[in-house]
Amino acid sequence: MPSAINNTILTLKESATLGVNQKALRMRKEGVDVCHLGFGESPFPVPEIMVKALTQSAGIKNYLPGLGLPELRKESSDFYAREFEIQSSWENTVVGPGSKELIFHLLMLLEGPFIIPAPSWVSYGPQAHILAKDTYTIATERKDSYRLQAEALAQLCGTLGKGQKILILNNPCNPTGAVYPDQELQALAKVCREEEVIVISDEIYSLIDFRKEKFSSIGRYLPESTVVTGGMSKAFSAGGWRLGLAFVPDAMSDMIKPWNALISETFSCVNAPVQYAALEAFSQFEALRPQIQRFTEIHSVAGSYLFKRFMQMDLNCPEPEGAFYLFPDFQNHQEILKKRGITKCHELVDDLLNARQVAMLPGTDFYMKPEDLCVRVASVDYSGEEVLEHFPGLEHCNEAWVEQRMPKLKTACDRIQEWIS
Ligand SMILES: Cc1ncc(COP(=O)(O)O)c(C=O)c1O
Repeated sequence: MPSAINNTILTLKESATLGVNQKALRMRKEGVDVCHLGFGESPFPVPEIMVKALTQSAGIKNYLPGLGLPELRKESSDFYAREFEIQSSWENTVVGPGSKELIFHLLMLLEGPFIIPAPSWVSYGPQAHILAKDTYTIATERKDSYRLQAEALAQLCGTLGKGQKILILNNPCNPTGAVYPDQELQALAKVCREEEVIVISDEIYSLIDFRKEKFSSIGRYLPESTVVTGGMSKAFSAGGWRLGLAFVPDAMSDMIKPWNALISETFSCVNAPVQYAALEAFSQFEALRPQIQRFTEIHSVAGSYLFKRFMQMDLNCPEPEGAFYLFPDFQNHQEILKKRGITKCHELVDDLLNARQVAMLPGTDFYMKPEDLCVRVASVDYSGEEVLEHFPGLEHCNEAWVEQRMPKLKTACDRIQEWIS
């Protein structure tokens, strides 16, 4: 008998990033030479210190407290305070099975309309949809590298009226690679304070910042109403370990009791061995720092290469400053694409995958209009082990090195260039 399924869930599709990954991997398995610029997963091995700690903790089998191992909550909140000036005491720090799940819980816990800057990461919208939350997207502009501007936020808040609102701010940003400068964060914080906006600041890429300046969280300027999320998935290369963190400001500590209750009725706790391994990562961070720095430098080299090639192809694209993504658009080529019947970004992405075996994601998955012809490009299709072994240091990396050690990035660019000429 066919099962009756919840209608809200029936309208969901598989998360775009996971879906394109499956398709590209299936094509590769069938022997197709795919350049996979669709999926953003760190290509590097998990640092040895963490693997060792995980192995040694494998025998720990007890349930841990729902909010997380107290020692991990202490070490991670101390680390975020030292590194990023996030003020959240350990009692208000929450450990979850990935920051994705913690963001979902936050949307469940916090009342009020949900504001998503466009472009933004794929999962925020579907999560809000599952929870039947009123959702508003705010358009951003390419000239601002698609960073949300305070005026645009103020304008939307003005139309929403009084009462609590929730803003998701992703910094550094997936899909654009943009990082917010201090003055923009200060301006946004001012509007948030005036308009009763709580910020969920998704900072899962905060350790992957290419700039010379120190990374700033909006939590520095809006400490009383910013919840910062982060975790082990990106800079620590351990996405599959599923460990995320949320730092609730002390001023919002009344969230912790209901959150603990929600956790106790849903995932219970994050698996114990991974929490012990994460504890080791934070308590031994100084030993890990050079490795994490090297990963970041390699991400910056890959991002710069793609950016330069995209500029040569006359794509419009903000220069990436962090994370491992770029967000070009093909508007300067719309005439040639139109002749081939391509006027929307999903048609563009389908054609590039079918005709040239280059996988990317359409801008529509990131809340952009189809005619914008935007695509999300991930810059991690290379062997992390090999690249690490041969990395000569940032200052000695040139295009020839990238093309030798990250050949799929070169091939992808060559194929895109041929495709648009
Ligand atoms: C912007 C952004 N936020 C959150 C996540 C989820 O990370 P986690 O593995 O901690 O759930 C991702 C992962 O792709 C991401 O790109």
